Amino acid sequence: MTHAVNLPPPALLLVGCGNMGGALWDGWRECDAIAPSVVLDRHRASVPTPHHLARTPQDIPPDFRPDFVVLAVKPAKAEDAIALISSCLDGTTLLSVMAGRSCASLREAAARHGATVSVVRAMPNTPASIGQGVTGIFADHDVSPTRREQALSLLRAVGGVAPVTHERQLDLVTAISGSGPAYVFLLAELLEKAGIDRGLPPETARLLARGTVSGAGALLAASSAESHVLRENVTSPNGTTARALSCLMAPNAWPASIDEAITAAAERAAELAR
Ligand SMILES: NC(=O)c1ccc[n+]([C@@H]2O[C@H](COP(=O)([O-])OP(=O)(O)OC[C@H]3O[C@@H](n4cnc5c(N)ncnc54)[C@H](OP(=O)(O)O)[C@@H]3O)[C@@H](O)[C@H]2O)c1
Repeated sequence: MTHAVNLPPPALLLVGCGNMGGALWDGWRECDAIAPSVVLDRHRASVPTPHHLARTPQDIPPDFRPDFVVLAVKPAKAEDAIALISSCLDGTTLLSVMAGRSCASLREAAARHGATVSVVRAMPNTPASIGQGVTGIFADHDVSPTRREQALSLLRAVGGVAPVTHERQLDLVTAISGSGPAYVFLLAELLEKAGIDRGLPPETARLLARGTVSGAGALLAASSAESHVLRENVTSPNGTTARALSCLMAPNAWPASIDEAITAAAERAAELAR
């Protein structure tokens, strides 16, 4: 994929505005990355003008012609969603953020409802809501250069973008960065619990755990040093950090757990694709 130059912001039909769709929507709105668009979701309380909230497909303005239909429903609900909005689909580009569902399966699902679509698959993550997401992206062979660039621009508007050359690599993107924020939040939870279990006031434990995770993330983002160098900078020989890391870095501890977790998540993404 090449770099975008001055393309107009696209109009979107965002189908599903839950955790991920909502994060993208909030990020896009914040930075004016989109033309007047429609959100289809029965839970969303409101969307600001000039955008439009549709609680049912019947609420979508009849003359609305989106450039992209962004599909952000659970993979198991994709078929139903495509059936419900099939009248808006023909000639658009489907931008799917769903784990697992392949370009071919989405194209075929649209075709069963009489619509011809091209498909871009993206695997973002929820920090997109504050412009700090990271997204793996794959564009199917028949996506036009303009649509590729617009898709890239949309996702760059909410963080970093990593194009992949083989669709199967999105399973790994899902395992590492799509699901990844959950692993980091788990670390914050466990640090907080360890402090509370050992007698720290809960508020203090919370402040220390959250501040450490977010501060370390910000330092990682701001620094050009490799992550192992930043780790080593905290680790004096025979000091407290070295003692803790000897537990965490034991071969059967974090190295094995992270490896197992990434394999499990990638296998689940592949299962969803079947
Ligand atoms: N969560 C993440 O961190 C993350 C990261 C990367 C990718 N993803 C992908 O994002 C997708 C959504 O995940 P999520 O965690 O955001 O799920 P979620 O919070 O359950 O959001 C999905 C939303 O879509 C709505 N919806 C379902 N069918 C619909 C339809 N036909 N028309 C309109 N709205 C419909 C749901 O409403 P109902 O309750 O009415 O069904 C819900 O509000 C998944 O495919 C997942 O693989 C998620």
